[in-house]
Amino acid sequence: MKNTRIAARGLVLLGCGKMGSAMLAGWLDRGLPADRVWVLEPVPSLWLRETGVHINQDLPDAPAVVLVAVKPQVMGDALPSIAALGRGETVFVSVAAGTSLASYEAAFGDTTPIVRAMPNTPAAIGQGITALCANAAGQDALEEAAALLSAVGDVVLLESESQMDAVTGVSGSGPAYVFHLIETLAAGGVAQGLPEELAMQLARATVAGAGALAMQSDDDPTQLRINVTSPNGTTQAALELLMDEKAGFPSLLPRAVAAATERSRELSRG
Ligand SMILES: NC(=O)c1ccc[n+]([C@@H]2O[C@H](COP(=O)([O-])OP(=O)(O)OC[C@H]3O[C@@H](n4cnc5c(N)ncnc54)[C@H](OP(=O)(O)O)[C@@H]3O)[C@@H](O)[C@H]2O)c1
Repeated sequence: MKNTRIAARGLVLLGCGKMGSAMLAGWLDRGLPADRVWVLEPVPSLWLRETGVHINQDLPDAPAVVLVAVKPQVMGDALPSIAALGRGETVFVSVAAGTSLASYEAAFGDTTPIVRAMPNTPAAIGQGITALCANAAGQDALEEAAALLSAVGDVVLLESESQMDAVTGVSGSGPAYVFHLIETLAAGGVAQGLPEELAMQLARATVAGAGALAMQSDDDPTQLRINVTSPNGTTQAALELLMDEKAGFPSLLPRAVAAATERSRELSRG
């Protein structure tokens, strides 16, 4: 990873759990030298200790970036350890769900460049998607934040922070909806007489393969669906249920996304 600001001034990672570790692994894989990274983490994993990064040591005076990856509930305890780095050129990037740009501005001052990011769990295998937005002082830092987050997958820029709750409802929480799709697809196979293990193998590979095809094909998902739906065939028999306007996906998934979006709004209000 060629980032001269980070090479010169270092990067601080606050919290190295699932998301922090996924990002750190991506940066190190892309060539960020371990001695340019300072991690604050109460219980460092064996993997973290073997990376060669600085762990729970004195921080550089003005690092290029501080990436905040602690749970929102511990934010109040964790932020004082980095508060002294605010009000300068250090860019703060937060992946914490439901913690607004305004609450970081309250902690660090509104002249501090702050970027808010919403990644998702496929980041752990480099196939996440992260949405980004920034405060007024952080607009110039968006590109650098996008480069950092691209170590764990795709990156999209939002027009405004108000879109973040809906992003949380679609891609932030979305992997869990797909995992549940796999569970229930497999259960459907078991109900039709397949052994559990075989049904799960079929369901998992089907969702993974269809997802990869949707990403790689020139056709959009609607066309891909039409391509595999012969009139009066097996797929049509299933889709008549799944596409039912009242009881099927067209009603169910938007309601699920709305519930997650609303919960994200509630959490942001604190
Ligand atoms: N996982 C996701 O899919 C996902 C998606 C989008 C956003 N996020 C956001 O990413 C953030 C981290 O989530 P996660 O799933 O990675 O959680 P996690 O695995 O629990 O990681 C958080 C880490 O921060 C550490 N920590 C706790 N207090 C600290 C302190 N005072 N100073 C420094 N580190 C401290 C925790 O240590 P202990 O375990 O010892 O407490 C833990 O290792 C959350 O804000 C979440 O909203 C996660």
